[in-house]
Amino acid sequence: MKQTGLTVASLAISLLAAGPLHAQQAEGNYLATLFHATPASVPDHNCVICGPATPLYSPPPDASYPLALLPLPGANGPPVKNCTFCHGVSAQGLAVAPRLAGQRAAYIQKELGAFRNHSRDNPYSALYMWNAVPNLHPETARALADYFSREAPQAAADGNRALVDQGRVLYQQGEPQANIVTCVVCHGPDAQGVGAIPRLAGLSYSYLKRRLEQWSQGYHQTAKPMPQVTQSLSAEQIDALASYLSFLDDRAASR
Ligand code: HEC
Ligand code: HEC
Repeated sequence: MKQTGLTVASLAISLLAAGPLHAQQAEGNYLATLFHATPASVPDHNCVICGPATPLYSPPPDASYPLALLPLPGANGPPVKNCTFCHGVSAQGLAVAPRLAGQRAAYIQKELGAFRNHSRDNPYSALYMWNAVPNLHPETARALADYFSREAPQAAADGNRALVDQGRVLYQQGEPQANIVTCVVCHGPDAQGVGAIPRLAGLSYSYLKRRLEQWSQGYHQTAKPMPQVTQSLSAEQIDALASYLSFLDDRAASR
């Protein structure tokens, strides 16, 4: 962003001169998309943002895009590897990236939208997911969500076994006198989720714990009703819920 002297007006003029944008480019808001992946009709322009020495990237029409610009699902299916790189082979989760396998398709799609508009603003979301989605074509997002939802989930089973019973009671009954609602009414008896309500069964302990903590820390306040639901949970109760859910293997449950 050296050449800030180049004004918005000159950017607008060069865009206008460039003609209609590619469908995929219109999808993304990133400057790099606009200025490096220019309309195929404009050959060999220079990037007004990076300076005259930087040639623009001109994708051939309807061809594949570089990693950041994910292609439409093609003959080989959606570009799964762009996701499994972080989420693990077969999408069972890896390090801080959660399991996607078996997650509800509608929920995955909803979250991709939340990363894209930055309303899901947890630190790891901002660090990793914000850059993974801005150029996702809606059709590709739908195809990826569908693909991952069909992968068989495995339980992480990495919580504290001693807290499982406490977690189960809390999950199923809540604690009315402490203003804690039951989770089962929304997430289902096997924590299998439904529609845009996520499957929780078998997600990793550390991921569940982090999610349950972060709403009370003020992150991702648009994820209703979870900011309210987690408000009254103590650290010990979060530990118990995350432990219980991490061992829950719902493979036998209805999908
Ligand atoms: C650079 C690493 C990285 C890449 C690439 C990546 N992810 Fe993620 N993803 C993460 C991390 C880390 C999180 C956890 C964010 C958090 O804790 O809030 C996450 C979270 C998610 C979630 C939320 C899951 C849930 O249970 O709420 C979805 C959905 C998701 N990613 C889908 C994708 C898809 C689809 C792709 C491919 C287009 C992708 N990710 C590529 C690292 C990555
Ligand atoms: C009234 C319905 C409702 C109740 C009750 C409820 N949830 Fe949720 N939960 C949701 C919805 C909807 C989402 C998705 C929010 C979003 O991201 O937009 C969600 C998301 C979550 C997530 C994030 C999962 C992921 O993959 O990142 C966790 C963890 C969670 N809920 C745990 C719980 C626990 C534990 C309880 C009980 C203490 C509970 N929920 C009670 C509706 C509910």
